[in-house]
Amino acid sequence: MSAPVDISPVTLEQIPVNQDRRYHLREIFGNDHPIELELGIGKGRFLIQSAEAHPERNWVGVEWASRYYRLVAERAAKRGLANLRVLRDDAAHVVRDTIEDAGIDVLHVYFPDPWPKARHNKRRLIQPPSRVRPRASWSTAGA
Ligand SMILES: C[S@@+](CC[C@H](N)C(=O)[O-])C[C@H]1O[C@@H](n2cnc3c(N)ncnc32)[C@H](O)[C@@H]1O
Repeated sequence: MSAPVDISPVTLEQIPVNQDRRYHLREIFGNDHPIELELGIGKGRFLIQSAEAHPERNWVGVEWASRYYRLVAERAAKRGLANLRVLRDDAAHVVRDTIEDAGIDVLHVYFPDPWPKARHNKRRLIQPPSRVRPRASWSTAGA
């Protein structure tokens, strides 16, 4: 049996959010490189290849399925990728409530789960504006 991999260097779970309850990703990486965020990373093929190919950029992946999250974290930790972090959370919550305004430079979403049945529509990652709860920091003036 192989030894367990320490995934703590590549995960965001241990890092508390700031007083405004948002991740300040540039502080987490300790540099001002551009930050690219992928939602729904699956097995992390795009994220890991991108982080390896572009060490001059920072990469963050969000995945709510624990086995995929763990798989990607282990692969990234084994490769010693200092420019990559993964977070186990709901992507909609992360974007809406935990990333500071202007905190990311590029957003990637590839093949999000389609949830074709009408009764499952509410689980879709991409939702019409009428279903999106506003961010706490968004202005509600005139609403
Ligand atoms: C069809 S897979 C695609 C994975 C990857 N983007 C790719 O192209 O290979 C969709 C992934 O998004 C994840 N996912 C779907 N909705 C999510 C959400 N709201 N928050 C986080 N992850 C989500 C699923 O668990 C799954 O791993």
